[in-house]
Amino acid sequence: MKHYTGINDIGNLQQAVKEALELKNDKLKYRALGKDKTICLLFFNNSLRTRLSTQKAAQNLGMDVIVMNFGSEGWALEYDDGTVMDQGKSEHVKEAAQVVSQYATVIGIRAFAGLEDKEKDAAELVLNSFVKYASVPIVNMESSLQHPLQCLTDAITMEEYKIVGRKPKVVLSWAPHPKALPHAVANSFINMMQLQDADFVITHPIGYELDPKITKDILIEYDQEKAFENADFVYVKNWSSYRDYGQIKCTDPNWMITASKMKVTNNGKFMHCLPVRRNVVVTDEVIDSKNSLVIKQAANREFAAQIVLKKILENDETNSSENRRT
Ligand code: CP
Repeated sequence: MKHYTGINDIGNLQQAVKEALELKNDKLKYRALGKDKTICLLFFNNSLRTRLSTQKAAQNLGMDVIVMNFGSEGWALEYDDGTVMDQGKSEHVKEAAQVVSQYATVIGIRAFAGLEDKEKDAAELVLNSFVKYASVPIVNMESSLQHPLQCLTDAITMEEYKIVGRKPKVVLSWAPHPKALPHAVANSFINMMQLQDADFVITHPIGYELDPKITKDILIEYDQEKAFENADFVYVKNWSSYRDYGQIKCTDPNWMITASKMKVTNNGKFMHCLPVRRNVVVTDEVIDSKNSLVIKQAANREFAAQIVLKKILENDETNSSENRRT
């Protein structure tokens, strides 16, 4: 694997999940793999889990880690070609990406959607510019459209908690939120579920349909309670409207996840990527219940990142030894 920008880059998902769970049992086994290698994590947006778990995963593999809050500490970057840079942007991404590549074996990028311009967000300007101009592998730590480390984590967690021998029913449910949030987590979760053997349903208010190029023919059930019936996993996430791009069209608190809604599930597990707003998205009762997997999901972020970095380093090593032979 060269870059990890979306879940499909991992190859066989089931195999990757199996390998991640093996790593979880012996996380320092490949400590020699990252010796004398450095990962540089560039954050254009805030983070708790992604920052710490990716750092920990790299350290488990013996890598050195450099972290930079690029959004608040770096020079404002220009992305367009041929611009006369006489305004606020100080540095072109062409130089920035090449410069960072000299300090790092792998670069991680977090750059969220602006939610103002659908086409601009769809172009994944920050992520794709680093893929284009950097000379080392790029890991997507959440971009405008995708959060592939999160959905790999979710696949690992569902594998751990699924009922053996039963095809799981999984629901992706929208829930209310006071802020307009991006589509990346929901998009990636859907992409990952399309690689799973499961009954998968999405539920959200009318007007919250995600990009049909992502949802394709997945069942959308506008009745949340009906969608929850017999579910093994209820994955909850807010997103802003895709059609009326970036807008909040519904704040109805009846979409919040409550214990009475969870009662119609098959003793269903509650999942959320975090951070989450308690008693807006989900009641205390549900998130604090024994069926809540949110802390376990956060723990698995380490092993999702580690399997991704392991595959990148192994690929890098193979390429280096082939280059030495030729
Ligand atoms: N789930 C997730 O990506 O968390 P952070 O935004 O805190 O990294």
